[in-house]
Amino acid sequence: MKLILFLLYISLTLSSVLSRGGLSATRLLLEENHSHNSDSIDKAKGYMTNYDLEQAVKDFGRRCSNISRIYSIGKSVNGFPLWVMEISDKPGAEEPEPAFKFIGNVHGDEPVGREITLLLANWLCDNHMKDPLAKLIVENVHLHILPSLNPDGFALKRRGNANNIDLNRDFPDQFFPMNNDEDARQPETRAIMTWLREMHFTASATLHGGALVANYPWDGTHDKRRNYYGCPDDQTFKFLASSYSHSHRNMSLSKEFHGGIINGAFWYPIYGGMQDWNYIHGGCLELTLEISDDKWPNANELPTIWEYNKISMLNLVASVVKTGVHGRIFSSDSGRPIPGSITIKGINYMVKSGRAFADYHRLLAPGKKYEVIASAPGYKSKSTTIWLEEEAVTVDFILDPDETLEGNLLRSICDCGSGVTTKFYWRFHIEICFFLVIVLAFLCFLLKRRTLFTLGKQRQPPKRSVMI
Ligand SMILES: *[C@@H]1O[C@H](CO)[C@@H](O)[C@H](O)[C@H]1NC(C)=O
Ligand SMILES: [Zn+2]
Repeated sequence: MKLILFLLYISLTLSSVLSRGGLSATRLLLEENHSHNSDSIDKAKGYMTNYDLEQAVKDFGRRCSNISRIYSIGKSVNGFPLWVMEISDKPGAEEPEPAFKFIGNVHGDEPVGREITLLLANWLCDNHMKDPLAKLIVENVHLHILPSLNPDGFALKRRGNANNIDLNRDFPDQFFPMNNDEDARQPETRAIMTWLREMHFTASATLHGGALVANYPWDGTHDKRRNYYGCPDDQTFKFLASSYSHSHRNMSLSKEFHGGIINGAFWYPIYGGMQDWNYIHGGCLELTLEISDDKWPNANELPTIWEYNKISMLNLVASVVKTGVHGRIFSSDSGRPIPGSITIKGINYMVKSGRAFADYHRLLAPGKKYEVIASAPGYKSKSTTIWLEEEAVTVDFILDPDETLEGNLLRSICDCGSGVTTKFYWRFHIEICFFLVIVLAFLCFLLKRRTLFTLGKQRQPPKRSVMI
């Protein structure tokens, strides 16, 4: 008996040593370094440490495993995993549904977002069987929540990451070619960029602190002046931001920001921000939400802040299915879904359809008429006019093959929509398409050169037979 107890003790000690190995030790050290500073220990009192946050994410994953999946998109400079909770009735599976993301704690010293994103996740877990909005989200959206993009900055209680870089200035910029060296970019930024190349988000929001306002693109101006600078989807963004501020307990009552919303460039221009990059390169409509005037409100105010934001957050996520125009794009000859794109007449922006199901989700401000145009390589484009009310409209497009030579060629080499659900196969297919294009181009080049060569030969003046 004693031997068994002894063995049990040994294995328990070993497993606890192993599971709290290197990484956790450095994490604890990092956090303890700052406990000497009485000011920072005071303001962080009652907030989750990074270790608490990791536990909370894992506890959530265990408790709500039927509607969630936990994964990490990379690591911070100091090696903290950037944990994400995906909430859906089929987490991890590809479905013809839109995806939404919440990102908290982009700035290390703005910790409210990391707390309320966890409250949101747990609330959805507890209520998706009884609350209609929670049910709608779980059943029709893939919601991805990254509570902390900047755990190192949080541990250091400062804005920047461990290299003291402001992550919301670290993205490539549309006006100034700063940050264009991908290797010089911070690991946290790179993790977001890789994530967006793999996942297609319809909309998203990052949570900040220091004000109470919903901020929308553009964040920068071409001449660095502070001016209203609207993006092609200015109306859509104003609608989304206003919906947020009006569902919020008191955001829309702001004296500083009319209606509780503001155009980023009109507030103060920034460059290398995450919001503009999402819209331009991620096909994702992102808002920057400032959810608390005080960056470090007393921790006992957190439940109130969550209550103030709750309906806004739920409505914003639900808006990716409840508003706008949605549908799928099919080929009329094979009946299969084809990856194409959707544009709206008068709005210079393209929304791509999903790879496997060719589903598209185009958010738009309601109360207007829109001409929706679907296109795909090798197919004739089709358009239809819709009257968009408060409710979402569903329009499926069935495109006819473009029977011209060019159309046939495009379709044969680029019709990659075969209803195959794995991304890998799709990528493989794309590579083959690309290879074929290169081979064709090379053949054309050879042929041209040959004809030029023969032509060139004929054009040479006849040789004189007699020298004078
Ligand atoms: C909103 O409510 C919070 C908490 O009561 C308060 O601190 C803040 O000043 C209010 N803001 C507005 C714009 O009413
Ligand atoms: Zn911020």
